[in-house]
Amino acid sequence: MYEIAKIVHLICAVVFGGVVFTEVVLLPALRDRFGEKEFRNIEKTIIQKRGIKIVPIFVLSLYISGFYMFHFYIKDLDLSTNFGKLLITKIILAIFVLIFVIMAIFLFIRGNSESKLFEYAHYAVFIFIFLIIVSAKIMFII
Ligand code: HEM
Repeated sequence: MYEIAKIVHLICAVVFGGVVFTEVVLLPALRDRFGEKEFRNIEKTIIQKRGIKIVPIFVLSLYISGFYMFHFYIKDLDLSTNFGKLLITKIILAIFVLIFVIMAIFLFIRGNSESKLFEYAHYAVFIFIFLIIVSAKIMFII
């Protein structure tokens, strides 16, 4: 069951990371081509027609599988080891990511997706996901 959870976790991390990469790195290219107003319309259409329906399923599965795997470690977790420190760091970063995602969804639903906070939340999530993936891999090595 642990191995299945790990596969689910990895697939969801790839999809979620891909969505954030598209939002932060690829989509802004449309801003230069179509201008700010049209870009916002395109972004809104993508989020409303697809994003809001599909992405939460992957985010939820990512956290459920993550906590499921974590419950195997929690009993013997030794925070003096590099593994323990990195795992806890990864989880704290992941909790921040969840807070930023909920905040971004909340801002979008309230029609505040043009606010700077919405943009900064995306940048923070982008950097944190990168750090989470690196921690997840090096915690087994060092
Ligand atoms: C933004 C959220 C998250 C991302 C992007 C993420 C990403 C990843 C990635 C890429 C791996 C490596 C998987 C592999 O080697 O096959 C991993 C492993 C792991 N993650 Fe997450 N994770 C997230 C949230 C969480 C949460 C919330 C928890 C637990 C509370 C968690 C617990 C774990 C555990 C225990 C492993 C080790 C699995 C293993 O290799 O045995 N993750 N994570």
